[in-house]
Amino acid sequence: MTYWPAHDPSSKQVAGRTAYLILHNTSEVVTPDAEGREILRFPKGAIVFRDGRVLEVGPAAELFRHHPDARPLNANGKLVTPGLVDCHTHMIFGGHRAGEFQMKLAGASYADIAAKGGGIRSTVRATMAVKEEVLEKTLANRLERWRANGCTTVEVKSGYGLTTAREVRLLELMAGAAIRVPVRVHRTALALHALPDEFAGRREAYIAEVRDGLLPEVHRRGMASAVDVFCDPVGFTVDECRTVLERARDLGFAIKLHAEQTVRGGGAKLAAELGARSADHLESAHEEDWRALNEAGTVGVLLPAAALTLRLPLPEAAMLRRSGARVAIATDFNPGTAPAQSLMEVAALAGRLCGFDANELLLAVTWNAAKALGAESEVGHLNPGAWGDAVQWECESLEELPYWMPAVRPDTVFMRGADLALPAVERRVWP
Ligand code: NIG
Ligand code: FE
Repeated sequence: MTYWPAHDPSSKQVAGRTAYLILHNTSEVVTPDAEGREILRFPKGAIVFRDGRVLEVGPAAELFRHHPDARPLNANGKLVTPGLVDCHTHMIFGGHRAGEFQMKLAGASYADIAAKGGGIRSTVRATMAVKEEVLEKTLANRLERWRANGCTTVEVKSGYGLTTAREVRLLELMAGAAIRVPVRVHRTALALHALPDEFAGRREAYIAEVRDGLLPEVHRRGMASAVDVFCDPVGFTVDECRTVLERARDLGFAIKLHAEQTVRGGGAKLAAELGARSADHLESAHEEDWRALNEAGTVGVLLPAAALTLRLPLPEAAMLRRSGARVAIATDFNPGTAPAQSLMEVAALAGRLCGFDANELLLAVTWNAAKALGAESEVGHLNPGAWGDAVQWECESLEELPYWMPAVRPDTVFMRGADLALPAVERRVWP
């Protein structure tokens, strides 16, 4: 069954019926405000959904007066938030790297493992070894797990193909998986991830191929809205990234960078200079990098699971507050650095490791994450006009969300109001 037109997460096509309803008897409704600055809390609040969008949010008594014809839906005294947004994942890959994880625990560095032919290129080989149908099915199942964990919008990067033909194929398979699961999928072409074996010793030729082959092809076929690069000594230099990102920007793609992960190398400054939508990782960034991101309006995306796996430090919330920058948190789900399958779990860790409060964490996995995808007018909050993507949680207060470990489970996940109100159990998404 097709739920979502794959290429257009904001399409008006609706698979189910349209509904006019009021979700009431909540413990509270919490949402970022329309500017994504404050968290609004409506104790015993309600939300009115119509035609898949939020019509009004506020105190239940008032909303019942305004909307006597809306069909009531009982939230059973639970907390309701916007659907979460996971703005950075690498979910399409074959195999796993649990063996490498053991090597890391024994002291090997990410760079050592990559230099020995492990790392990203080993997942590229493992991905090539899996049938396309299985890659697509596995991705659909993962998207369904994210939905059941409360994510209604998920970014998926390519990046385990490396050559133009294989990257394009991964982006196509993403479209196939996305239509099977009621989650909004944003596709990103991870254009520079590792040097493919086919280009060993020919870095310049590879950069030229990405710039003049891959990017125009992805653009021509409308296969991604953003282009990302891995700016790091293990990946590509600032100049190589600039070459590719400038072309991406000229073609009209939004741009993103994996920046300042294993060392501080200038990726955050490049992100600010090019007006990137987000700079992600930033474990090695300094306060001045965060200030530059703030001035450029670039979201800084923290990936706590990757930091933990590579045993890299995460920044202190106090420093981030001083910088003024917008902070999002994402899983970075990938087989090498972040086998993390619950965004709320990752946020609960970030609260403890960085010192964020519950309001900051909710912003980081909703409005700010939506901004990292350029989707903040549509998702990441429950203000009038936004898509009615919401989660009713198995808890009663905002403070409980980052408190419980394992993370609080959703009770019900709403997409487009109640056009799709599904329980938080993973369905079978493939015959
Ligand atoms: O976000 N750092 C680059 N990319 C991924 C890791 C990919 C991998 O190791 O397979 C990341 O950490
Ligand atoms: Fe990543």
